[in-house]
Amino acid sequence: MAEDAGTRVRKRVAVLISGRGSNMQALIAAATAPDYPAEIALVLSNRPDAAGLATAQAAGIATAVVDHTAFGKDRERFERAIDAELNTHRIELVCLAGFMRILTPWLVGRWGWRMLNIHPALLPSFKGLDTHARALAAGVKIHGASVHFVVPEMDSGPIIAQGAVPVHDDDDEPALAARVLAVEHRIYPLALALVAQGRVRIVDGRCVTDGGTAGGCLIVPQVEPSPLDIIAKPRGT
Ligand code: GRF
Repeated sequence: MAEDAGTRVRKRVAVLISGRGSNMQALIAAATAPDYPAEIALVLSNRPDAAGLATAQAAGIATAVVDHTAFGKDRERFERAIDAELNTHRIELVCLAGFMRILTPWLVGRWGWRMLNIHPALLPSFKGLDTHARALAAGVKIHGASVHFVVPEMDSGPIIAQGAVPVHDDDDEPALAARVLAVEHRIYPLALALVAQGRVRIVDGRCVTDGGTAGGCLIVPQVEPSPLDIIAKPRGT
């Protein structure tokens, strides 16, 4: 744990990315606030060409690349290399943010309730890929994003925070993706703060947030895009 100028302890967080890293950027931005309970101590990518690496470096954050292609089919050796980086940087919490590798129970087990993921849908609906296209095809009227703890089964861990947005009749996939992305950038910093402060307990497989049942809930009828949302190109993952 690192200490800020006062006595407050900030959790050391690693963000794992594979691409543009707009959620990573939202976490970095949130962590610049002196009272934010976490600091982004490492950004790690499995792809050397991930655009988010340059963004992290520009923000003065340590970066690492563990290129999965160098490990062939040996997923555990790939994950041991990731785990070694996390340990080298004394990481306490891990945020998956567009990290496009499925993790084995080995790494998930090592990080237990200290690994978070963001998924662009209101879980348990629309697990997996192409969530926005599937939401449009299903005709849902409300869509959104979820931050959850990582368990071995994909997109299935206890939900820490969710943000909901309306689906408009004339939405196409990019329009809906952009609206959801804006809410992602708000709920991930919220969820990480709740976890870093120790305000989330798991009771009977569900997250209970101390300080109010609405702790992890965000309903956004109109999301004003931030500069970050405009910079990030929508992607339907
Ligand atoms: C986000 O939509 C996230 O929910 C999903 O992958 C996308 C990553 O985008 N898991 P970014 O790299 O954070 O911009």
